[in-house]
Formats: sequence, structure tokens, C-alpha cells
Amino acid sequence: MARNGKGEILVVDDEPNAVKVLSAILTEEGYRVYESLDVASATSIINRENVDLVITDLKMPGRDGMDFFGFIRENKHDIPVIFLTAYGTVDSAVSAMLGGAFYYFIKPPDYVKLKDIISRAIRQKCMRQEIEMIEKTPGDAGEKNGLLGNTVEIRRIKDTIETIKDSSSTVLISGETGTGKELISRALHFCSKRKDTPFIAVNCAAIPKELIEAELFGCEKGAFTGAHARRIGKFEEASNGTIFLDEIGELDLGVQAKILRVLQEREIERLGSNRKIKVHCRVISSTNRDLKNEVKEGRFREDLFYRINVIEIKVPPLRERKEDIPLLASIFAREFSEKEQKKVGLPEKVMELLKEYHWPGNVRQLMNIIERAVVLTKSDSIALCDLPEEFHPLGKALEETHTVTRRGTLRDIELQAIKEALEKCDGNKSKAARMLGISRKAFYKRLNDAKHA
Ligand SMILES: Nc1ncnc2c1ncn2[C@@H]1O[C@H](COP(=O)(O)OP(=O)(O)OP(=O)(O)O)[C@@H](O)[C@H]1O
Ligand SMILES: [Mg+2]
Repeated sequence: MARNGKGEILVVDDEPNAVKVLSAILTEEGYRVYESLDVASATSIINRENVDLVITDLKMPGRDGMDFFGFIRENKHDIPVIFLTAYGTVDSAVSAMLGGAFYYFIKPPDYVKLKDIISRAIRQKCMRQEIEMIEKTPGDAGEKNGLLGNTVEIRRIKDTIETIKDSSSTVLISGETGTGKELISRALHFCSKRKDTPFIAVNCAAIPKELIEAELFGCEKGAFTGAHARRIGKFEEASNGTIFLDEIGELDLGVQAKILRVLQEREIERLGSNRKIKVHCRVISSTNRDLKNEVKEGRFREDLFYRINVIEIKVPPLRERKEDIPLLASIFAREFSEKEQKKVGLPEKVMELLKEYHWPGNVRQLMNIIERAVVLTKSDSIALCDLPEEFHPLGKALEETHTVTRRGTLRDIELQAIKEALEKCDGNKSKAARMLGISRKAFYKRLNDAKHA
């Protein structure tokens, strides 16, 4: 992780002025910069300091940039490397890219673009480190129960869980479907002092209206047609533990009134009995509706709303915490890979696509899509075609933007290299072609392409 300002960058170039200029620009940007004029000192810096990124010249006397790159690949493989190359070394730069370099620029680089690439490289490195860190460290209450995420929004929720887990105040968890409401309610219970007591979840939306009261409060034998035996209700089952009223907004007003009474008096009566039974349980409710609005519309009792809502946890939809998507996606990919006995990775391109999508089904949908892709893929990394069809148009659109920028970049590089070679060789095309290490024919073709670009 970038600890010092925006990050720590090592600049290596045998040309002192080049180091000075770049160092000044990057320091101004808020980076901490280490300067080095040769690979030997660069190696000792990288071994000693917490370097987040290396920018190195390719051609240097003695051990060159390629050598240094080899060392980094072997010993510090998570540090991204950006090459700065002179016109004559484009070929080596291309092979460096193929070997895993983050980017390369022809000197002098376009500094605006360089700054953008630097911040992307450091962001990616930090993200990878964060994922590793989260996987290694035993987490807090939320994480121990599988609540993943590192955005401010999720961290705030994890903090709240830590703070309120042992209290007995009611909690209302609201959020869209699949955002993790049930996961949070479980974390609240299983990390609290109540963890060895029952956690009883009641899906208020799934129980038929006629049965809900018996389900919640229990009934005596013969209390109504079909009540063949005495039944213990969910409130009683949850005694001393937690009752989770999932989708409480779906309950009708009659049942709402009864729940209000239970919350006020802390006692229930089974259907068909007058005996009052004390219940001590924490009540956690969840809703994907806007309950305040339901109150306004007369569909939810205002007094019950205030009763169940002493502490509110609002879970934001995934599209409002996109920075968590790479972390979630890669952990899901690893988990499903293990389950499938495969080793399937998520390339940057797919990750970008996942971040662009609007996720109406939130984390549940992301999880399902990764599972499906891991199962379907025939290779060791997920491709666009392994994702459901609704992703394809978005994928194509992103691909096109990439191709356009990539084409632009390569063309720029070629054009710049050809121009500089011609200048050096006083316009002699054969010489310039030799300098670039390509045939005369290839040189003419590129020159021609570049002219008509
Ligand atoms: N932050 C998260 N980290 C890891 N897994 C998560 C996270 N949020 C949700 N999930 C997973 O997504 C799935 C859906 O979560 P959960 O059932 O808690 O959502 P919900 O908000 O209760 O959804 P619904 O409203 O549809 O009932 C679960 O498998 C859960 O483990
Ligand atoms: Mg749920």
C-alpha cells in the first residue's frame, strides 16, 4: 500500500538530468521519489525501501533496464515497472511489455499521460496488496462472518457491528436485494455475546398470511383449523438469542400491531392460549423497501417503525461502492475455483467490465456470475464470453475504447520513432530503417501508414 503520500516511486536513468526532471515532476505531484543513476544502486534501494513503482530507462551502461526488470520480476514481482525508452529501442520495449512491464514511453514522455499511467499502476498494486492483506489477517466481526469490502461504506458498517453487537437495542437493516442484509444480521449475532444462543430468521415475505401469527407466536393444539399440535413460535425459539425479521415491510398491518405489542411488553401469547410467556431476544429487522415512505403511505405503522429502528444500518447498493468489486470478485473467483478444483483468474479487462456494470442484484448477483463463469470457462482466466449475455454489449463498448486508445498509442510511438530516426539519419530512409532494426520495405510501409493515419 502506498504509505507515503500518494506512493513511493524509484526513478532509474543513467542521465542525471532526466532523473532530476522526472523526480521534480513526481515530487510536485505528491509522490516520494528515490533517484538512482544505475541498476546497482536501484537494486539496493528497492531492497531497502517500500517502493510502489519503478520507472526505468531501458538502455544504460553496464546492467541495463532489462536486467533490472528481470530482477524485479523474480524478487519483487508485485512492483509495476514503467520503461522509458529511446527511439532505437522500441523492440526491446515491446518484449518488456510482453514480459509483464506495466507500460513504456518513448522519451521524452507525455507527462500528463505518464502521470495517469503511474496513478493507475499504483492503484492496481495497492488493490492487489489489499486483497492479500484481507485474506491473511483474521478480520473483525464483519469479516469473520464473511462481510467483505474495504470501501468507507462497508468499513463504517463493520465499525457499527463492532460497536452495537452486544447491545439489545433493535436494529433495522435496509438495502436493496442482495446487498448483504442477512449477512450483517448474522455477523451481529455470531460475533456477540449471544453467539451460543439461537439465531432465528423469519422470512416475513415467504410465509402465507394465515400462518404468520402461528409462525411468530406459536399456537396451542386446536387453536385453528389445521393446528393439529402445539407449536412453539419463532419469538419463543429465539429466547435469549436473536430473532431476524427478514423483509418486515411485507407484513400486514394486523401482524404489525401484534409485533409492536411483543416489543413493548416483551411477552407473547400463543394462539389459543391466554398464558403470557416472557421473551428476551434481540430483534433485528430488514427491509428492501423505503419504510419511511411506507409509513407515509399508511402501509407501515409509524410506532412500529420507531420501535424496530433504534439503530439503523443502511447498506448501499454495490454500484455505489464499485471500489469493492475487484476485491469481492477475486475472492469469489478464488473460492469457486477451489470448489471446482480449478485455478481461474480474473483479468484486468473483465474486472473493469464488472466495475462498469450496474448490478441490480448486488453482491448476490456478482457472486452468481463469478460462480457461473468459473464453472463454464475452459481456460485459466475468465473471458467476456464466460459472462452472461447482458454483459456483452458493455464488454464490446469497453473493448472498442481500449482498441482506439491502444491503436492511438502504438501509432504515436511508431510515428515518433520514425520521425526521430529520420532526423538522426538526415532523412536517409535505409539508414533509419537499419537504426530501427526493421527492413526497408517494412519501414516504407510504416512511414506510409503513419502519413495516412
Ligand atoms: N459484503 C459482502 N461480502 C461477502 N459476501 C456478501 C457481501 N454482501 C453480500 N454477500 C453475499 O451475497 C449473498 C446475498 O446476501 P444476503 O442474503 O445477506 O443479502 P440480502 O440483502 O439479505 O438480500 P435479499 O434482500 O434478497 O434477501 C449472500 O450469499 C452473501 O453471503
Ligand atoms: Mg435477505
